[in-house]
Amino acid sequence: MSFPSQRLRRLRQSAAMRGLVAETRLSAGSLILPAFVREGLSEPSPITSMPGVVQHSRDSLKRAAAEAVEAGVGGIMLFGVPEAHDATGSGAIDPEGILNVAIADVRAEVGDDLVVMSDVCLDEFTDHGHCGVLAEDGTVDNDATLELYAQMAVAQAAAGAHMLGPSGKMDGEVAVIRQALEDAGHVSTGIFAYSAKYASAFYGPFREAVNSQLKGDRRTYQMDMRNRREALAEVEADVLEGADMVMVKPAMTNLDVLADVAEFSPVPVGAYQISGEYAMIEAAAANGWIDRRASVTEALTAITRAGATSILTYWATDAARWIREDA
Ligand code: PBG
Repeated sequence: MSFPSQRLRRLRQSAAMRGLVAETRLSAGSLILPAFVREGLSEPSPITSMPGVVQHSRDSLKRAAAEAVEAGVGGIMLFGVPEAHDATGSGAIDPEGILNVAIADVRAEVGDDLVVMSDVCLDEFTDHGHCGVLAEDGTVDNDATLELYAQMAVAQAAAGAHMLGPSGKMDGEVAVIRQALEDAGHVSTGIFAYSAKYASAFYGPFREAVNSQLKGDRRTYQMDMRNRREALAEVEADVLEGADMVMVKPAMTNLDVLADVAEFSPVPVGAYQISGEYAMIEAAAANGWIDRRASVTEALTAITRAGATSILTYWATDAARWIREDA
């Protein structure tokens, strides 16, 4: 009888032993809560495909932000759902537009206790649902869109956003937004660039969350998920243009890319656990097929292990509470 000379089980024998040697730890302060606020609502409205997530009223958004602070969450990313849509998404630029007033509401509520971020993208505001304005041939016009992003960014900074999240995947958007912020004196407003953002079927539930008008897809501007190297080109471009942080999105289907970016990037790297990732776990858990808390924790740990310093997750407030309970 011979015995194993190496017993890797020794370090797994108790929770204390496992905790002592764990390489990856979750922290509440690195979580960012994406939140939707819809114009004209007096009560929050459930999103069917994202059980537990709602379109907020202005009041319920303030309460959710306060709860996030209480739980120790690090940031909030705001998305606006306007009552009216048009070809150029003009509600995005209007200082009285839903997203801009919500940014001011949340800043008034949380001050600097939560990093207040906002989506710089036109898809929630356009009647065709694309992330930019359309050229005559129906394609998304990159440079005409940039001019609108610049105005949208300045409106959000003026409303009080600490950090802007350009998610439209137009070339040059980070540079144009940085320049517009500088020109308007918003030198401290940061940019969290959606650099490695892939076109994905898993964005499905988000369409319901923002009452999207989109027909077709975003494959001419979002990345092709068959490509890995291209993510580094996107990150490099955005960093040179002035991004303070970069993102990989979706998270779970791009952990290899996240690991590459984490190694390569000179700025902090975030990952977005998106609507479809949320919906899948919630649906399976609701059926009793998987354990909700354990599955969410495992997914967040995988994203952290792959190299994310910050994670956008619809579970941010719950997960922050669990992290504190487990500590
Ligand atoms: C675009 C945007 C989208 C998401 C975040 N910002 C939709 C898209 O690119 O199609 C998706 C987030 C999610 O699915 O949770 N404004």
